[in-house]
Formats: sequence, structure tokens, C-alpha cells
Amino acid sequence: MIPAENGKPNQSQSNGSSGNGQSQNSDILTTRQGHPVSDNQNLRTVGNRGPATLENYQFLEKMSHFDRERIPERVVHARGTGAHGFFEAYGMVGNEPISKYTRAKLFQEKGKRTPTFVRFSTVGHGIHSPETLRDPRGFAVKFYTEDGNWDLVGNNLKIFFIRDAIKFPDLIHSQKPDPVTNIQSGERIFDFICNTPEAMHMVTFLFSPWGIPANYRQMQGSGVNTYKWVNKEGAGVLVKYHWEPLQGIKNLTQAQAQEIQGKNFNHATQDLYEAIERGDYPQWELNVQIMEDGEHPELGFDPLDDTKLWPQDQFPWYPIGKMTLNRNPVNFFAEVEQSAFGTGVLVDGLDFSDDKMLQGRTFSYSDTQRYRVGANYLQLPINAPIKKVATNQRDGQMAYHQDIVPGLNPHVNYEPSSLEGLKEAPEAGKDHTPSYSANLVRQKIDRTNDFKQAGERYRLHEDWEKDDLISNLVNALAPANKIIQDKMIELCTKCDFEYGQRLADGIKKATEMVMKEKEMMMKENGKALSGSDAQKEEAVQQAEEMSTEAKPY
Ligand code: HEM
Repeated sequence: MIPAENGKPNQSQSNGSSGNGQSQNSDILTTRQGHPVSDNQNLRTVGNRGPATLENYQFLEKMSHFDRERIPERVVHARGTGAHGFFEAYGMVGNEPISKYTRAKLFQEKGKRTPTFVRFSTVGHGIHSPETLRDPRGFAVKFYTEDGNWDLVGNNLKIFFIRDAIKFPDLIHSQKPDPVTNIQSGERIFDFICNTPEAMHMVTFLFSPWGIPANYRQMQGSGVNTYKWVNKEGAGVLVKYHWEPLQGIKNLTQAQAQEIQGKNFNHATQDLYEAIERGDYPQWELNVQIMEDGEHPELGFDPLDDTKLWPQDQFPWYPIGKMTLNRNPVNFFAEVEQSAFGTGVLVDGLDFSDDKMLQGRTFSYSDTQRYRVGANYLQLPINAPIKKVATNQRDGQMAYHQDIVPGLNPHVNYEPSSLEGLKEAPEAGKDHTPSYSANLVRQKIDRTNDFKQAGERYRLHEDWEKDDLISNLVNALAPANKIIQDKMIELCTKCDFEYGQRLADGIKKATEMVMKEKEMMMKENGKALSGSDAQKEEAVQQAEEMSTEAKPY
């Protein structure tokens, strides 16, 4: 493989040799079996008008591989793009050496570089959906460290809709297209949200311009969930991670996004690719917030609740390193589509907190990847660590190699063994051993406090952001069932009186307008529009009315 500047090999570049090591530098087209292809334009047929014959091996091989080109798209975060880069550590947390809090090797020395791969994405929409759609943006980073991989699988926004992993499939179903019509529906989204008050903080961000970042370069990132750091003595602290873009932050209003979408629905992918090609490498500083491990009853929220921010005045941000993206993928499918990130992928010195969302996520990622990519997804160059892997795992579909260590006994694929098999590693430091004493229950956390930070966020929005937020909520809710509208008005009012009032007024006005339009349509056409979103309905009508007739041929 050709080594890349930042240390991680160029994953999908050809190594100039065929599978059995023979040189293959010719420009002659071959089949996958290595047979030269002398005619790639014509099927083999009985006479030049057909029929085709069944022994057409060259055709059958080409077509049947094509038929299998796609793998299942990610169930969420299907639309995305990625780039390679590196992380450079500062070695400090504020004025203290970082080793006071974590023994993770990648952070210890100032200037130490670790290769990274980042995948940015939208969440709910399909693989080729417009990048102007309202959605959180995924910000997943893979660090190829000397101790194996660390994945920090985050979003641009620092909080989430829900705090219990068991609700995730329902949340996502409500945002995906209706199972009958296959159309995304504001009514379905808000039917879920209005019965999920913990989502109000996220909604107050998401329906404002913060729900449509200008592009991937000018957005923040966050680990969202609470993790732990562990030092040499095995002592743990709670941490949250935040990526701050050195390019600044920019967001779009709904109207701006619609204008851009009419011209280019891949604008964010193009923006990142072109910036890297011209050497304008985007950079993000990684910041952490640290809290002593524990329940912190003095706070109005639970530190493990991912619907909450940790206030910056109480928990300052400490910069601990900087990431630069400086290399585009050579092959999108091999490096971006098949990349697989997961919250379980931690290195020594980093640990899980008791955050139950995080624990649910940790099951889900590798589970879906074994289905989406395959049992041996970790053998693919983009997912494999740079560190030599030595496991007793064997076989499975598409096994590319076995993890056999030269000099060890290849007959031993089990542990323990006295016959020169793999041995357990020495402890890197003292184990972190939190202790528990509680009943096994199915219960919400105590300090739900669903509205305080959401209200603060509403008040912190600038006027243009508030206007856009209200207008977007009104557009989504005006066609919805009145029960849903009323519940949403009630939840917004609990966040902030003005917030609720403006939503109520907006919905009332929009409903009156729809009624008027309906009446007009009744007068003009004798039929009313269904009570659904006027703009969408208008688009359906326009497609028929504005189009130009063509003659059949
Ligand atoms: C219980 C809650 C969650 C579950 C069960 C869940 C599950 C999943 C699944 C199944 C995927 C597809 C992975 C793949 O096909 O490779 C995914 C992708 C992703 N999730 Fe989550 N997720 C949850 C919450 C979150 C949260 C809170 C965040 C933000 C911190 C997040 C960020 C991401 C990102 C960035 C990706 C895309 C990774 C990539 O680019 O390949 N997820 N999630």
C-alpha cells in the first residue's frame, strides 16, 4: 500500500499487484478472473441480432457483480461524505498535564499526531437526499491510535432528542417516510415529539437555522453522550467532547436552503471535497468539559442526560488538540460507504459512563455493521486499526485473511494454551471499578427538567433565528392534527411563554390561510385542497400545471 502523508495508508489505492502477488500494471481490461476482455461492447449472440446464449461468462460475471454493487444503506445517517486527516494533541488540560485525567496515549504528548478518518452525514434521509434538508448532522471521527481505534461518533448539535436508547427506533420511524405513502410527514414527526417532552431542547435548535448548517466545514461537532476518562490510578472523571470549527460556524434559513437546493443538492459534499483539493484544509479544535464522577444532586439536571448541555460557566471548555482534514478518499465506496463507526470503540484511558443512551448505542452500531457490511467489516482497510491485530476470531463471510502472528503456532486459535498461542496483554494501569447498589428497574431518571434549557435556548436565539424557528414549526404543524398542535403549543409554552404564544398565533394564522385557500379552490375548481401543507400541495399542482406537453412517439 502507498503510505499517505498522515500515516494511515491510502486505503483503496491499487497496490499494483493482483491477489496472488503478480505484477498487473498493464492497461488491458480483464474480468475478475484475470481474463483479458477483447470486446466490452457486444454480448455473445447467435447472429448479430440475438438471441444471447447462457454460457456468456464475461457478460454474466459483469452483470451479476453489477447487480450486487449496493450494500444496504445505513438505517440512519445514510447520506454523507468523508475525508482523511490527523489529530494533533496539546498534551494539557488547561494548565495541567492531561495525564492527571486520562492515560489515553494519543493525548499525552504535545504535538503527537494520530491519523483520523471523519464521516459527516445527515440523519433521517436516504443515501442521495439533498444536503440542504433540516436534520442534525453526523460528525463521526475514527482515530487510528497506537493502542487500536477510537471512534468518537457524534453530531453537530450538542444534545439529542431522547435520553433512553429503547426509544430510538420509534424516534427514527417518526422521521422516516410514512409506511403507507412513503412521504415524510410533519404530523408523524410531531406526533412523536409532542409525546416526548425531553425532545424540546433539541427541537428548539433543530427547527431554527441550527438545523441546516451551511456545509460540513463550518459546523461544530459534539460527542453528545457523557463518557469517562481514566488515569493511571484507575480514577475516573466524566467528560463531554466538543469540536469547534476554526473556519467559523454558519447556518442557513429555510428559504436560503431551498434556494441552494434548487441549484445543487450535493453542495456540502462538493464543498468539502473542493476545499481539500485546493489545500484549504478544514480544522477543528477538540475541547472537553470535565466533571467529577457522580450523580451531582446540586445540579438541576443529570450529568448523564444527553438532552442537556453542561453550562459552560460551570464546566469550562478545555482545548486538548486539533484535527486537520487534508486528504480526500480515492474511492468513495471503499472508504466512506463501508466505513463503520461505533461508540464501543474506545482505547485504554477512555471509558463508558453509565449514560443508558450510550450503552444502547454501543450495542446498535457493531450489530448493524455486521449486517450492513458483513461479519468481517473490521478487516476492511478503512475500518482496520493501524496496530497489528491478533485475535482468535476465524472465518466468516468474505474473510480476507486470518489474524495469524508469524512465529506463533497457527494451529492454536484459542486461548489459554501452552502451545505458543496468543497471550493476554499486561494491564495498562489500574482498572476503573465503579461500584453499584440499586434495584433493577425500568424507570425514567429523576431530574428530567425538560423545559429549562429549551427555554434558555429560545431566548438565546437571535431575532432572525427565532423568526425562522417559529415559521418552520408553523409550516410543519399547520397541516397536523389539532391534538398534536395543541400539545406542541403547550410544550413550547412550558419552555417560554412567548415561544408558545408565537407558535399558537402562527398556527392560527396559517390554518386561517389554508381555510381561505380551500374556499377559493372550492369556488374555482369545485374541489378543495386537502388540508395538508399548502407549499407541498402547490408543488404537486405546479408539476402538472407548469410542465410542457410532449407528443407520444
Ligand atoms: C440509542 C440511540 C442511537 C442508536 C440506537 C443509534 C444507532 C445508529 C445506527 C444503527 C447507525 C448506523 C451505523 C452504520 O450503519 O454504520 C448510526 C449512525 C450514526 N449515529 Fe447513531 N444512534 C443513536 C444515537 C445517536 C446519537 C445520540 C448520535 C450523536 C451523538 C449519533 C450519531 C451517529 C452518527 C454520526 C452516525 C453515522 C456514522 C457514520 O458516519 O457512519 N447516534 N446510529
